[in-house]
Amino acid sequence: MNNTPVLQAHALSKTFMEGKIKTPVLHAVDFSVYKGQSVAIMGSSGSGKTTLLQLLAGLDAPSSGKVELLGKPFSSLDANARGAMRNAHMGFVYQFHHLLPEFSSLENVMMPLLIAGVSKKVAKEKAMALIEQVGLVDRYHHRPGMLSGGERQRIAIARAMVMDVDCILADEPTGNLDSHNCERVIDLMLSLSQQHQVALILVTHDQSLASKMQQQYRMVDGVLHVKGENNV
Ligand SMILES: Nc1ncnc2c1ncn2[C@@H]1O[C@H](COP(=O)(O)OP(=O)(O)OP(=O)(O)O)[C@@H](O)[C@H]1O
Ligand SMILES: [Mg+2]
Repeated sequence: MNNTPVLQAHALSKTFMEGKIKTPVLHAVDFSVYKGQSVAIMGSSGSGKTTLLQLLAGLDAPSSGKVELLGKPFSSLDANARGAMRNAHMGFVYQFHHLLPEFSSLENVMMPLLIAGVSKKVAKEKAMALIEQVGLVDRYHHRPGMLSGGERQRIAIARAMVMDVDCILADEPTGNLDSHNCERVIDLMLSLSQQHQVALILVTHDQSLASKMQQQYRMVDGVLHVKGENNV
């Protein structure tokens, strides 16, 4: 079995600097996630969850420590190399879907493939297969404005997965949904993560959704605790 973590953070710290003002946010965070593993990160507002995801995604640079992707240096790469690795290996789902409003569901899901230079025919086949897996075959031609909130998030999930990524980073993906749709979206992400053996990192404020993940962490003032340890 391949035991290399998909993503691994070593003693990751982040202090934001605005002129003379220093805001320490993350403190020596160690974290790893494996193929097909699902983890939840909970924690109060401002505790550093989004900052951690930004560093794991290579969208921001750590003040110290490092991130490895599939056992290879990641945070230390230059922006272009990091961008290429991010596009090849990571998918993102946010609280707001960020779908392109003037394009159909199908076109939105095809987009990452087309940008990567995949032929239109193959992109269409892959996108259609994923839209089928998120249960929206009858919505191929709907634009985001014609979809419900839950349907938009399901299309956003299809788009996040379409590149055969190794890891999905989801920052409060259900923040705008009612409880029924929350559950549906999370169950869908979990089943796709299992089926495609994709690592799933979910940031959520919802304990019942977090409980569905194989492992749970809690961020407390920039320190990441495994839930159940240290009275967290
Ligand atoms: N670019 C920045 N410059 C300065 N401070 C920042 C910056 N980005 C975030 N912070 C600070 O870092 C802290 C952690 O922010 P972060 O967005 O990671 O919190 P969070 O846990 O995701 O919160 P929420 O649950 O509200 O989304 C906050 O106090 C925030 O003000
Ligand atoms: Mg956040």
